[in-house]
Amino acid sequence: MKAFYRRTTLFLVVLIACSAWKLQAQDPNPQLYGFDEGYEATIDSIITTMSLEEKVYMVHGDGMFTSGGIARLNIPDITYTDGPTGIREELEHRSWQTMSWTTDSVTFFPTGTALAATWNKELAYRYGLAIGDEARARGKDILLGPGVNIIRTPLCGRNFEYFSEDPLLASVMTVGYVKGVQMQDVAACVKHFTINNQEYMRSLIDVHADERTLREIYLPTYKAAALDAQTYSFMGSYNKFRGDWVCENDYLLNQVMKGEWNYQGVVVSDWGATHSTVKAALAGLDVEMGNGWGRKEHYFASLADSVKAGKVPESVLDDKVRRLLRLAYNCRTTDPDRNKGSMNSPENSQLAYDVASEAIVLLKNENNTLPLDKTHTGKIAVIGMMADMINAKGGYTAGVKARYEITPLQGIRDYLGEDVLLDFAPGYKEDFIVVDTGGHWPHRYPNPAPNDTLLKDAVNLAGQSDLVLLFVGNPRSVETEATDRETLALPFGQDSLIQAVTAANPNTVIIVVAGAATDLNRASKSTPALAYSWYNGSENGKALADMLFGDINPSGKLPFTIPKKLEDIGAHAFDKHTYPGVNGSVEYKEGILVGYRWFDTKAIEPAYCFGYGLSYTTFKIPSVKINQNTFLAEDVISLAVQVENTGAIPGKETVQVYVGKSDSKVQRAEKELKGFAKVSVEPGKTSTAEIDIPVSDLAYYDTDQKLWIVEPGEYRLIVGNSSRSVSREFKIQVQ
Ligand code: BGC
Repeated sequence: MKAFYRRTTLFLVVLIACSAWKLQAQDPNPQLYGFDEGYEATIDSIITTMSLEEKVYMVHGDGMFTSGGIARLNIPDITYTDGPTGIREELEHRSWQTMSWTTDSVTFFPTGTALAATWNKELAYRYGLAIGDEARARGKDILLGPGVNIIRTPLCGRNFEYFSEDPLLASVMTVGYVKGVQMQDVAACVKHFTINNQEYMRSLIDVHADERTLREIYLPTYKAAALDAQTYSFMGSYNKFRGDWVCENDYLLNQVMKGEWNYQGVVVSDWGATHSTVKAALAGLDVEMGNGWGRKEHYFASLADSVKAGKVPESVLDDKVRRLLRLAYNCRTTDPDRNKGSMNSPENSQLAYDVASEAIVLLKNENNTLPLDKTHTGKIAVIGMMADMINAKGGYTAGVKARYEITPLQGIRDYLGEDVLLDFAPGYKEDFIVVDTGGHWPHRYPNPAPNDTLLKDAVNLAGQSDLVLLFVGNPRSVETEATDRETLALPFGQDSLIQAVTAANPNTVIIVVAGAATDLNRASKSTPALAYSWYNGSENGKALADMLFGDINPSGKLPFTIPKKLEDIGAHAFDKHTYPGVNGSVEYKEGILVGYRWFDTKAIEPAYCFGYGLSYTTFKIPSVKINQNTFLAEDVISLAVQVENTGAIPGKETVQVYVGKSDSKVQRAEKELKGFAKVSVEPGKTSTAEIDIPVSDLAYYDTDQKLWIVEPGEYRLIVGNSSRSVSREFKIQVQ
């Protein structure tokens, strides 16, 4: 009998395990993830057998992208790779030089803002799965991504890598991405922790923000990565916060991340972002990276001595080693059955296509100019260097050696075939002015003047054509790591080109290719149809052509606000102290009012608002059901939002729910995004978007009590399809 029960129990356990596994494989946000406690005893016993030197060897770079393993104990080296939009090409072990391999080309996945523009959490998860798959195929353990910093200013050179100005949208993307990566036995390394929102002086700047702003805007995405996705690692950023480098910031690393969040994973420094041994070790930095080309710094040079001298307790070093071993075991680095991965698979190309096609944002479409007529017989002009630009490479560490990248020009040519007359004129080119300022590096900025010859050729071509597809934007040389843009304006005189080309041929559709917001004033008023596209991955041109000719119905929504002018942005509304900083210090005076929170609260009209994006069909929200009107702090607000497709073709719509509180005792943004869902709807049919908002998400951070407080009283619930289009508004009570 006992045997029967044992067998039956075993069967049930296996059955539950199998169905759990199935759920895990299908659920975009599986619940089975994170650190497996089963490894802890083994890890503890390994640490007791390690020498001091072995422990120290594990916690610093030994090579540009390797930290030490211990062969004697069968602990392999840990290998790292950039991230976050494709697996970086192989570099020499101790330098930034390429190995010039022919076997390390990979899929280029659409960059961060593109992924966020899909507002599709399932795509974020599949993105993680795909990039994790390629990381494994290249033998990597840690993927240095996703990059999740909040977009505070459109000028930040790395915005294209990041997700959004909104912490909720950024968190949802992060959680999906991290879970996907880690499902492949690869550790995500969520970067750059934290409050690193500009590239200008990134390694020196001391950021000052009040505690509420830190908690409500700049920490939630990392908190979600730690608690909801259990990321196996974080990367500490270059900047300082309140006087201390982040990589030796006891408050951020020990007290908040490892203390309050009880985070069990590894904190890796950004490359060269460590400034001390004892202070960094005691503050919670686990691994010093970026010293791999033989610079004998910090942990490598003096951690062992600091432990011997009693300045760093050995238990602190043990904790770092434990975290690394935890990461290694959870990634199954010695398990023969570890995921082997694959590169450039059709599935990964398909994912790149799916993200690219849902990312494109249609901003304007007067008289249904788009989609274009597939049977077009006239002559088409494709104008603009960005139509013929490869975007995978460049931008330093986020550059990808793509196996292929379909440019827009190629995509359109492939789509139309040989018989259609199509001509191309670049219209402008990359052109930088270099000024020797006597400093270490010369000042280098994009030439704002048009290139007269290229402009003239483009105008001639436009005049001789029936339709113009005009591509403008920022190449990767303009939006790049280590510098910020100096202006919102399109570089290389592109506004003059827009003006001249649209005057020569008003039948012009404009497509912007960029990773961050740009000045669209000229473009917007010059064309009946305007779309925002991105550094949109290997399948960029195919997705774009499919969208222009209507095989894809656009469903992207802006993950950031596009302002009419720079000074309309909170970070730019004050003086240089708020951006880019004075004497090495920057003060976030706009506080919690980042992005649309600033625009809405100050009643400033943006060019295009956060969450905005059109479709080739039309939608209506005929009804919204809320589970109740009065809530307790522990309740969940459940909305069932009906979305009706009132047009003639299938489409996808993202329902967005914002919450506002007018009689709050603390300053509040006019409204904040608290939930969203993307649904597919057939023409003439209705779909339901189900959105759950825990009442606890309505809390503000009380700096005196150091607690999240849900204020009782009335809240406004705003349901719409952008931050400024309200379909329904409700009042609810919280008791
Ligand atoms: C970047 C990181 C990157 C690292 C390694 C640093 O300059 O800030 O994002 O992962 O280099 O390439």
